[in-house]
Amino acid sequence: MQKLWAGRAGKELDQIADDFNSSIATDSRMFRQDIQGSLAHAAMLAAQGILSQADADAIAAGLGQIAEDLESGALKIDPAAEDIHMFIEQVLTQRIGDVGKRLHTARSRNDQVAVDLRMYLKSEVGHIQGLIRDLLGAIVHQAEKHVDTILPGYTHLQRAQPIRFAHHLLAYAMMFVRDLSRLDDALRRMSESPLGACALAGTTYPTDRAMTAAALGFDRPCRNSMDAVSDRDFCVEILSALSLIMMHLSRFSEEIILWSSWEFGFVELDDAYTTGSSIMPQKKNSDMAELVRGKTGRVYGHLMGTLTMLKGLPLAYNKDMQEDKDAIFDALDTVTMCLQVFTPMLATMRVKKERMYRAAQEGFINATDLADYLTRKGMPFRSAYQLVGSLVAECIRTGQVLETLPLSRYQSLSPLFEADLYEAIDLKTCVECRTSEGGTGKDSVLSQIQYIRTLCPDAAPADEEGE
Ligand code: ARG
Repeated sequence: MQKLWAGRAGKELDQIADDFNSSIATDSRMFRQDIQGSLAHAAMLAAQGILSQADADAIAAGLGQIAEDLESGALKIDPAAEDIHMFIEQVLTQRIGDVGKRLHTARSRNDQVAVDLRMYLKSEVGHIQGLIRDLLGAIVHQAEKHVDTILPGYTHLQRAQPIRFAHHLLAYAMMFVRDLSRLDDALRRMSESPLGACALAGTTYPTDRAMTAAALGFDRPCRNSMDAVSDRDFCVEILSALSLIMMHLSRFSEEIILWSSWEFGFVELDDAYTTGSSIMPQKKNSDMAELVRGKTGRVYGHLMGTLTMLKGLPLAYNKDMQEDKDAIFDALDTVTMCLQVFTPMLATMRVKKERMYRAAQEGFINATDLADYLTRKGMPFRSAYQLVGSLVAECIRTGQVLETLPLSRYQSLSPLFEADLYEAIDLKTCVECRTSEGGTGKDSVLSQIQYIRTLCPDAAPADEEGE
């Protein structure tokens, strides 16, 4: 196919160079946005008297037909085309004749690709935000079933203090809420239209950039034509938000992998989200969670790749920037797939309450509460801490736990100990007493649930019976 830019060139592009240069395999997914942008551009050209209404109508009809034929599959994307912008313009001209050649008046591929990409990203980001809301729905639903499920909370992966399982899950919900708002921020800043910036300097035609910006759903046109076609900071912002989503999903996955091990035995994943081993019949592997953890690296890679691609570029457009789409599309696809598999995996995860409770009984995780008990009775916290530390050491030596140590032993160490100490170190009391705002106490957990519910109004309603 002859290049639309053939004119200056004395001979055809070398075949390998042509393949190397082509981006259609990547950017053809923006065909809807490309057509939408062209429709708005043609309407503006007619409104400004740059194009006759008849020509604009012919272009609009031709573009409409191309859109329909691409949707139905009647028109196939030509893999040999340079990019989606060239392909659509070429097909248009083949179909409606020379009028099609007028579409590119007062426009360049530089502003065209920038506007297409922003529109495409807006719709993809909206889709990912919907998937995050679904995930919040799955989290809050599990949380509601496990308000009274107690397990050890960990620091350094050592049993630390008892917590409600709902509280643990809701910690992730808060992270995903911030991810949602980070994407909102990126969308807000991206909502300026580059269309009409043309190659870099603007145009001599009396265009109306506010008209196309409004028609395409942007808040306003970009204020500087060189900035409009040169920066891809919006890609970096979105990649950064996607990286954080993956980081959160990856940590959550890591916990699910640990929890499903024999060693923890806190949860069991549904068979639909685990695999077996080809040799070891007993195995049930958390492959989905492992893949989510594993795919995090490639999203970080795209963030670094894009930042690095941009760092040395002089203004304005450079072909290096064509690499932006491979990176961000793969990142979007990866995050989409991960969310799509993670949410139902979490929703169907079976929680083994008894195992969690037993683990909570074994690790002296009420030691802080025993120290607090003494402190409430007047002993300075640091002394209480030391006394309880020596009791824990004694229990470990003698194979006991704080709950089974006789009162006489307690009282031989401090007269402050009374029979009510057993109540104070009961796991349920420990959890119940953490009434500080944002703590694992019941009121705090219930209000967290309520808050998350407002952000995912479509989530399934709470079940009455727990698990
Ligand atoms: N395929 C190109 C890209 O994605 C479109 C812009 C081409 N502009 C140019 N001046 N060569 O970046």
